Amino acid sequence: MRGRVHAAASPWQACWLSVLALIVMQVEAADEKGLILRFVTPAGKSDARESRTVTLHVPKGQSPSSFLRESAFTARWEGKLLLEKRSRLVFHLEGTGVAKLVIDGDLIVSAIGTPSESKRLSSGEHDIVVEYQPPAGSAATLRLLWEGRDFSKEPIDPEVFRHDAADSALEKSMSLRRGRSLVAQKRCVSCHDSATKEIMPELLLKGPSLDGIGGRLRHGWLTRWILDPRKMRPQSHMPAVFRGEDAEEKAAHVAAYLSAGFDPGGAGPLPEKERVEKGGAIFRQQNCISCHTLAETGEGQRIGLGGVRMKFQPAALVEFLQDPAKFHQGTRMPDFGFDEEEARSVASFLRSLGAKTDSQPLKGDASKGRVLAQGAGCFNCHEREGEQKESLSKIGLFDLTSSECSKVGYDLSGEERADLLAFCTAESGEDSLAQFIPAEYAERQYQELRCNACHKRDGEDSLRDNFLEEVARLGASGEKVNEEKPAGLAGPPPLDHLGFKLELDWRTRLFAGEIQPKVRRWLPDRMPAFHSRSGNLALGFSHEAGRSGVDSGPMVLDAGKIKIGKAMTGVEAGLSCGACHGIGDNPAIAVFEGEGPNLRASGERLTPDYFHLWMNDPPRVWPGTIMPKYALDGKTPLTQYYEGDSRKQFEAIRQYLRSLSKNQNNEKNP
Ligand code: HEC
Ligand code: HEC
Ligand code: HEC
Ligand code: HEC
Ligand code: HEC
Repeated sequence: MRGRVHAAASPWQACWLSVLALIVMQVEAADEKGLILRFVTPAGKSDARESRTVTLHVPKGQSPSSFLRESAFTARWEGKLLLEKRSRLVFHLEGTGVAKLVIDGDLIVSAIGTPSESKRLSSGEHDIVVEYQPPAGSAATLRLLWEGRDFSKEPIDPEVFRHDAADSALEKSMSLRRGRSLVAQKRCVSCHDSATKEIMPELLLKGPSLDGIGGRLRHGWLTRWILDPRKMRPQSHMPAVFRGEDAEEKAAHVAAYLSAGFDPGGAGPLPEKERVEKGGAIFRQQNCISCHTLAETGEGQRIGLGGVRMKFQPAALVEFLQDPAKFHQGTRMPDFGFDEEEARSVASFLRSLGAKTDSQPLKGDASKGRVLAQGAGCFNCHEREGEQKESLSKIGLFDLTSSECSKVGYDLSGEERADLLAFCTAESGEDSLAQFIPAEYAERQYQELRCNACHKRDGEDSLRDNFLEEVARLGASGEKVNEEKPAGLAGPPPLDHLGFKLELDWRTRLFAGEIQPKVRRWLPDRMPAFHSRSGNLALGFSHEAGRSGVDSGPMVLDAGKIKIGKAMTGVEAGLSCGACHGIGDNPAIAVFEGEGPNLRASGERLTPDYFHLWMNDPPRVWPGTIMPKYALDGKTPLTQYYEGDSRKQFEAIRQYLRSLSKNQNNEKNP
């Protein structure tokens, strides 16, 4: 865009325009989404991190931040509130302890539980500060909500917040956080002792197992991988362990050791065309392309799949697709729950891609390979029966004075080196590895696992649409594409309310792949499972939303309300919810434009807060949804129940739906 402007403009204009562009860029750089959240402890320690919005939950006795040890703290959010238009707003603070909200220097909310007066704010930016003092001796919880003329009380949309990304305390602490994540990803602690009890969840997940690896991966590929993992996969966290002239020979010895006793494996027969097409359609449908490319080496964060034929023994690829974590607990590749037939098709498709020629691997000596592997530290990062961790370095992680390892080659970028060094030399680094702050963990993993590959959040589109062209040619055979379906229904649900839409237990089971059958049976896309992370992730998203996640508990149902709720959902004296929704065993009756989830499941999985938020104004919660808004100014057209009071009516519906569910008390795994 800017290039085009330059081409058309005179030199003088071009110069002026580039100055302008610079100014614009600076303003943009200084203004990132979200707020700055600062913590201070009574002992005077402090920390800062980015926060999507004003929400916090810290269980009793726990620290609020990876870089603070104490559980006593005060918190302060600051940044800008960006309003598109002049608005009249009422603000609320919910939670425990003492808090206040200040906008443009004026005290707006003076206490938790006391809403602000209705406040007129002009369009544009406003300074916003929230100060918070948690209660002594119990959990800290805070949430900021607002209501306007045309919408009821709701969590503030994180899209309206901005902060100064160049804030020096924030920059420093975000660098420490990146350094900490790198230590976990690169597994420096497997050779450089951290001298602490490691609790950070990323450190506890196992790397790929080398047990029986020669039966799964091909000999030639193993040699090349060991020699230079990042050449095969630029995104890899495994270092090159052999360097120098005899590196290739050493790699061949180690590969020979790992493959000893196994068939070296051929590429297998070329897959059948029909299967390839079927697999291609699944590949496109399940949006694999948001995390992968069809070429060998990948691009950016996307991992290339063009070479898997050279890597996997044919049967092992099918097995991998059915259970990616089977030999690698910490894998980020999610589990799509493929049955064998589907996995075979996808494997066939993948094997039909890219590299067709095989290089003959160098011959190696297995017994030399074993010694080399031990000395190289393979078993510090990988398990293998009969092998154990070696003590390779006496230098502790926090005694390092540089980030450039002299033993193995990570090929780190300048920023990565700086972040790692900042972390390894920070006073609070060591303690931070013994910390598990669920909210921080969940946000980290949201990025690392690429939830945005499929989901929208905070007004940011998912990555789906960016790569559609790359898979457009892959068959849509047997699949009906409904052009008229409203866009809002065409893909996975948005995750703006991820931390409190679903009950914690349901969310945990969803991440673990245990919700069967899937909720949106009309949607061919699946939510893949993240087995080994499910519990921590689910809890973390609750905390991030300023909730413990466990307080809703068993619910006392009221027979009178259930009766009214049932009538309200009906056709004759109700709102005909069954047109679009199945209700219990009754299927939806008129799904012309689109369908909604079976409401029996909704009663069980949605939190009461979310249920009311949704019922009150569906299009505000999910723009583009076809579900109508029934409530206007707190009333519905059905005046025969509770004099039209929408809140009471929706509560009756909720009780009715809850009564349909088989799992009344939200017990785990009914
Ligand atoms: C510092 C830790 C570390 C060391 C040391 C290390 N690896 Fe790895 N290795 C990894 C990680 C992490 C992966 C996961 C792949 C990735 O990050 O791209 C991996 C992947 C692999 C894989 C591929 C497994 C699969 O199923 O895709 C093989 C094979 C392997 N390593 C073998 C070795 C051998 C042999 C050695 C010693 C010569 C070694 N590794 C040393 C961390 C390490
Ligand atoms: C949300 C991101 C994401 C999605 C979606 C995804 N993958 Fe992956 N996949 C990964 C990551 C990351 C890895 C690398 C393994 C690791 O880092 O643990 C991977 C690894 C793989 C591998 C092994 C590649 C190798 O060289 O070892 C295959 C095969 C694969 N994915 C196939 C698929 C298919 C097929 C789909 C769609 C059904 C898919 N993936 C969807 C993230 C994803
Ligand atoms: C496979 C084991 C292994 C892994 C993994 C590893 N190192 Fe090393 N590192 C060593 C060994 C061995 C030395 C040599 C020093 C010694 O003999 O203790 C060393 C040396 C270093 C040195 C030089 C220390 C000095 O003062 O001479 C730095 C810096 C270093 N490593 C940083 C790192 C970082 C950062 C990571 C993670 C990104 C890492 N290492 C991962 C084994 C490892
Ligand atoms: C490959 C695409 C894909 C990826 C990657 C993905 N999801 Fe999903 N997700 C879906 C689909 C499709 C659904 C809807 C499934 C259904 O209801 O049938 C879904 C549903 C959900 C739901 C339930 C929401 C609701 O309203 O029912 C949550 C919560 C969720 N995903 C969270 C996540 C998180 C967190 C991540 C990252 C750790 C993630 N998803 C990664 C595709 C994906
Ligand atoms: C015109 C069709 C339509 C009608 C009529 C309709 N809904 Fe919906 N409803 C939807 C759609 C579409 C969704 C969102 C689907 C999604 O989350 O994928 C939805 C979502 C919901 C949800 C959230 C479900 C969940 O588990 O995430 C609830 C609860 C709900 N509707 C209740 C009702 C009730 C009660 C009525 C009657 C008062 C009703 N709906 C009438 C289409 C409809």
